Amino acid sequence: MSTTITVISGDGIGPEVTNATLSVLEAAGAGLAYDHQLGGVAAVEAVRDPLPPETLDSIRRTGVALKGPLTTPLGSGFRSINVAIRKEFELFANVRPVVTLVPGQRYEDIDLVLIRENTEGLYVGVEHYIGLEGDPRAAAESVMIITRFGAERIVRYAFEYAKENGRKKVTLSHKANILKFTQGLFLEAGEEVAREFEGEVEFESRIIDATAMLLVKDPYSLDVLVMENMFGDILSDLMAGLVGGLGVAPAANIGKDVSMFEAVHGSAPDIAGKGLANPSSLILAAAMMLDHVGQPEPAARIRTAIREALADPGNRTRDLGGEANTSDFVEAMIRQLG
Ligand code: NAI
Ligand code: MG
Repeated sequence: MSTTITVISGDGIGPEVTNATLSVLEAAGAGLAYDHQLGGVAAVEAVRDPLPPETLDSIRRTGVALKGPLTTPLGSGFRSINVAIRKEFELFANVRPVVTLVPGQRYEDIDLVLIRENTEGLYVGVEHYIGLEGDPRAAAESVMIITRFGAERIVRYAFEYAKENGRKKVTLSHKANILKFTQGLFLEAGEEVAREFEGEVEFESRIIDATAMLLVKDPYSLDVLVMENMFGDILSDLMAGLVGGLGVAPAANIGKDVSMFEAVHGSAPDIAGKGLANPSSLILAAAMMLDHVGQPEPAARIRTAIREALADPGNRTRDLGGEANTSDFVEAMIRQLG
């Protein structure tokens, strides 16, 4: 039995961490076949299109994509391809588990999940400049869009996720005290959904800045967190920092028909091509993907192997304070899986 998935290696460290992940998937005995496609700067260079139609067709066909990071030029240039893919397939839920794998980080035994709304908020990209007194860029304006439909959908997803995964509590984070309309609607819609789960999953709401403080001060008091797009983007990096950083932070982008699995980190141009990248984030994302396609056994084997490999400081990459390079780490994982 094998499931075909679309693979996009991505830019910067993308090809390094993707190759590492494919070797680990093979060693874990995953039943997968790969449809390799282009995206990002690599695609611009090859076919002058950051998101070629063949890539979109492939994802539509397979329904599952494993994607390395894609470089987004700042300010000018094309818009984020990551955002474009999320939009194209309505990947509304961005699921980011934050779990301790490496002892000796900021905290021990962290086990949190952030569920980020992935299609609305400020990231809809409705923004423009306002000219004033001869300065065409005297001001700029971005529009935050929150819909009742989108808010209900993501909060319901968070509760269903909590139920399915034996989680105790959902915390909705917001800024309704200041942004009374947009964030107010998110909170109101969320509270309504929460009532459907009364007695099954605990619910609380917190202001986003207070949530950030609590995450740093007492992360054990939180469990599943749900929030709109930009808050989730920011707090997921903060949460990754609790357990060792972006090198160990996976993400699943879930839609009705299509799901895409990736690392939280970007293309890390500062270390690209040097063999220094920690591939753990994408490997963990691949384990989430295996669960998603109904292959929990190789997923569990990968999670055990990554834990065991990282337990030895000699296998840790530099981002985790070690000296190992990408291939040392992959070899250690493959030995664990062997
Ligand atoms: P980044 O996540 O690429 O790098 C931030 C820092 O973390 C760098 O010092 C980098 O060396 C380090 N780092 C990241 N991943 C690592 C890994 N696996 N192992 C070891 N160290 C790692 O963020 P940055 O530099 O802000 O963005 C670079 C590019 O990536 C930008 O074009 C950005 O738009 C894009 N990006 C793409 C994402 C995606 O494809 N989902 C997500 C975030 C950024
Ligand atoms: Mg981010």
